[in-house]
Order: sequence, then structure tokens, then C-alpha cells
Amino acid sequence: VAFGPEGDLWLELGERQVHASRELLDLVLLLDGERSRAELAASLPAEGASAAAQGILLDQLLGRLAEAGLLASEHDDEEPYFAGYAHPAVHRTMLQDESRTIAFRQALEEVVSPGDVVCDLGAGSGILSLFAAQAGAERVHALEASPLADAVVEIVARNDQSDVIQVHRGLGEDIELGEQVDVLVSEWLGHFVSTEGMWASVAKLRDRSLKPGGAIVPSRVTWYLAPVGPELLEEGPGYWDAPRYGYDLSPLKAEEVSRLQSEVRVILAGALLCPGLPLAELDCTQAGPDEAWIDVELTFRAERDGPLTGFCGWFDAQLSPGVLLDTSPSAPLTHWQQHWFPLPPRPLAEGEELLVRLVIEPSETDERSPSYQLWVNGERTTYPR
Ligand SMILES: C[S@@+](CC[C@H](N)C(=O)[O-])C[C@H]1O[C@@H](n2cnc3c(N)ncnc32)[C@H](O)[C@@H]1O
Repeated sequence: VAFGPEGDLWLELGERQVHASRELLDLVLLLDGERSRAELAASLPAEGASAAAQGILLDQLLGRLAEAGLLASEHDDEEPYFAGYAHPAVHRTMLQDESRTIAFRQALEEVVSPGDVVCDLGAGSGILSLFAAQAGAERVHALEASPLADAVVEIVARNDQSDVIQVHRGLGEDIELGEQVDVLVSEWLGHFVSTEGMWASVAKLRDRSLKPGGAIVPSRVTWYLAPVGPELLEEGPGYWDAPRYGYDLSPLKAEEVSRLQSEVRVILAGALLCPGLPLAELDCTQAGPDEAWIDVELTFRAERDGPLTGFCGWFDAQLSPGVLLDTSPSAPLTHWQQHWFPLPPRPLAEGEELLVRLVIEPSETDERSPSYQLWVNGERTTYPR
């Protein structure tokens, strides 16, 4: 601990330092590795504060220490991916997507039988575990690797499900459940399926912990692709072809083409040049950990005149025999929206064919973030994400 020029306190460790308050110093003295989160929160000097308010204060203080690099957490060696999922806003977005959330609830109502043991891999806010319990599960293993797992314990208690739902914090594929399960549910679906690379964990857990003949939710996922027409001309590199505000800005076109990126955005069904074709199908009951990475060729025939301005990707997921979650441009909008692969506009006439190959593989820098290579009639475009 050091004093600043104003007599203020600084906490220092090597080159790192953080401005210290009385609460922060109290907390540091308590961080002896022996105390639970609840004990730490309760010992903070926040007189008369509710347990929730003390929890928030604790998070803020721990956050300041972590930001300054003064707090080594057991998750320091974990990926930033899980730190991202610790933020409730991500879960709010998913819960606000009612098409998604209600589809999962309906699927669990269909698939879970009273007395079943269910495993929810990547429980997040705990919502699917609560649905599974509601559907009659005798026991639900809620597995969550992000720090949010602690909040899920509290959520489960507040909803009187502690007898049914057991929360396990850690990587799902490493956790010992101590039993085989009747149903494995996981909302592992990233943008255009493969983003986040979570399928590998689901496949490993399935092979280790799902009873023979047990159900997996979703049971099948299908990627789709369709060429996009003039409706998105102004949204990609084609924007620079026309004068803007009376000026020729076209040199920016080549610049944009040299660094094209795929984008999550809404694409309306009317923008497609022909119906989408299934690219690939993942049979979740059997597919191996690497099978959410794909390399596929297919041929489209334009059903109206272009220009071709790019491709639109989406997926659907068979959650249960009676529930299909569809993210296509003609289905109700979900938080996945659609996936847009912009291209420099090229002429395309009705009836013309496009031979397309799409490779989706983990990017070299981040295995959870896909890179895409798209060949159209032999010409390749690479999208780093
Ligand atoms: C898309 S969210 C789904 C959350 C919740 N099930 C829902 O449907 O609202 C995926 C969650 O899985 C967690 N997760 C991803 N990979 C995991 C793994 N290998 N083990 C445990 N949790 C994991 C993430 O931290 C995140 O909370």
C-alpha cells in the first residue's frame, strides 16, 4: 500500500497499482482464499445494505482489482469468451429473443419425461434448467463455465429448485456428473451456427454422459445459403460505385473489397435471388466434435435478375420432433439475425448458375471465431470473420 501526493491510498503490486478505498482495502485483507463469495460480500462495510447490494459492491471492487491486474482469479487462464458470458446483458439479449427461448421451452416440454435426469450444458442464466425442472425432470445438472454460475445457484434457490437443479461451475466436458442423463440440452448455437465453437464441448459431453437412446436438444442443425440481389447494393462495396454528395468516392471500393468482413444483420426474404439451399446438416445425435466446421459446394440458379451483391446465411435447428427453430429471412426475427457475406456487385441474369463453395473453419487467431472462404464460380473471397 502506498500514499499518493494528496494523502490518498494506492494499492501496488510490482508495476501495477489501483486507487484504493477503505472498502477495497478491507476486501483485500479478506482475500485469503478461504472465504466464499457470500462471506466476502457480507463482511463489506456497507451498513444496512441488502445482500444484493453487497454483492454488487463486491463485484465492483473485485472488478477494479482485476482490471488493474492485481487480482489473480482462477479464471485468469480461461478464455475471454467466458468473461464475456459473465455479463448479464448477453443473457438478456438471449432471453429477450422469445422465438428462441419459447422454442427451447416447448422442446423440453416435449422431450423431458417425469423422472428424467437432464443435463444443461452452458446453463447461462439457468433458464433451460428451470424449464427442464418445470417439465418434470427429477434432477437437472446445470453446467456453466463462466462466473455467472454463482448467480445461477442463487437463481435456482430463489425459484425453489435447489432440490432438483445442481449447478456445476466449470467446463462441461470436464465435469463428472456421477450418472448418465436421459436428456442433454444445450443452446450452443452461435451466429451462423459455428461461431463460438461450442459444439465440440457438447459432442464430448454427449459421448460421455448421455444414456444410449437418450435425447439431445437440438437434435439436428442445418446451415442454409442463398445469393442476395440489388436490395443490398448500397450496403456493401457497391455503395462506392455511385457518386455520393456529388463526389466520386470510388477508390474506397477497392479498399473495402480488400478487407471484406461477414456481418450479422437482418436480411429480408425479398432480397434473395432464389430460395436458400441447405449447405450442411449436423446430426447432433452422432456428429463428432469437429463437424460444425464445414466445406461444401453447391449450385444456385438465379430466379430473377441481379446484380449479385453477396450471400445470406442462416440456419434452422430441430430442437425436438415437434419444434423447429428457424432463423431464415422469412421466419420471425431472432437475435441470430442472418449472416451477410458481401461481395463486389457483379451482373447476374435470371436463370444463370452460380457454383459456390463455402469453407467455415476456426480462424488462426481464435478457434472460437470462424473464418469463411467463399468461392463463386471459382473466384475466392476470404472473410476473416
Ligand atoms: C448461448 S449461451 C446459452 C445460455 C442459456 N442456456 C440460455 O439458453 O439462455 C451459452 C452458455 O454456455 C456457456 N458455455 C460455453 N461453453 C461451455 C462449456 N464448455 N462448459 C460450460 N459452459 C459453457 C457460456 O458461458 C454461456 O453461458
